[in-house]
Amino acid sequence: MSKILSGKEVSGRIKSELKEQTEILKKNNIFPGLAVILAGDDPASRVYVNNKKKACEEIGIYSEEYTFSSDVTEDEILDLIDELNKKDSISGILVQLPLPKHIDEKKIINSINPKKDVDAFHPVNVGKIMTGNYDFVPCTPAGIMELIKESDIDITGANCVVVGRSNIVGKPMAMLLLHQNGTVTICHSKTKELKEVTKKADILVVAVGIPNFVTGDMIKPGAVVIDVGINRMPDKKLVGDVEFETAEKVAGAITPVPGGVGPMTIAMLMKNTLKAAEINAKKGVNR
Ligand code: GUN
Repeated sequence: MSKILSGKEVSGRIKSELKEQTEILKKNNIFPGLAVILAGDDPASRVYVNNKKKACEEIGIYSEEYTFSSDVTEDEILDLIDELNKKDSISGILVQLPLPKHIDEKKIINSINPKKDVDAFHPVNVGKIMTGNYDFVPCTPAGIMELIKESDIDITGANCVVVGRSNIVGKPMAMLLLHQNGTVTICHSKTKELKEVTKKADILVVAVGIPNFVTGDMIKPGAVVIDVGINRMPDKKLVGDVEFETAEKVAGAITPVPGGVGPMTIAMLMKNTLKAAEINAKKGVNR
């Protein structure tokens, strides 16, 4: 039986600390605000955006939501971002991904002021993560680092295997583990003998978006297993990228789905929004 790394519990603790920090910021005349942009009718995105707004309310962060139908034009989104970049009451801007297919995601992300880029998706922030000198850490990898801390495993010298190479999770995750002196391997759909690699992992992070992709026989006994997947099955049940029933018999610690990585991502978004408010108050968004 493995230790369950409850993101729900840890994120609850972090959010109550952030609530206190928000009160202090407000006493110092710094008012954090988050703008969330949602385009299209992806039901999962709708749920994520609702959860983000709810977290803002819990913590005391002002939030605005902008919803567009799936036939929105690129210019409409770019015009809105331009307005939000200049708006003093908004410290952070988040464009929920994926965007409708006809919209160029890169162009949209590149238009966000890097100082308001609380997702850390802008190339300036991605570059800063590479060099280890960053203001914003991408929310999901940042949340995973917090959960790994809970597992009491020392990352220094540990074999860390990341399955998945997305810009949102896989690549920044590998960088954060490397900055903590992990020995990092990134695997993906074309990796040969995947099981041979995952079996060596002391820390295994799985972010491939395929239900039950990693099974217990692919895991080293005692490993820390982090499941980033959130897959809705035909029977409406949510399952991760890791087959929980077989994995938890082998792993030393494992995240559940739901209630693992998901709530941590949102807590980290809140943390980045507070940071953006502080940075922008100190330096101004245009400097
Ligand atoms: N879609 C899936 N994950 C994320 C995320 O962390 N941020 C945004 N903006 N969109 C997402």
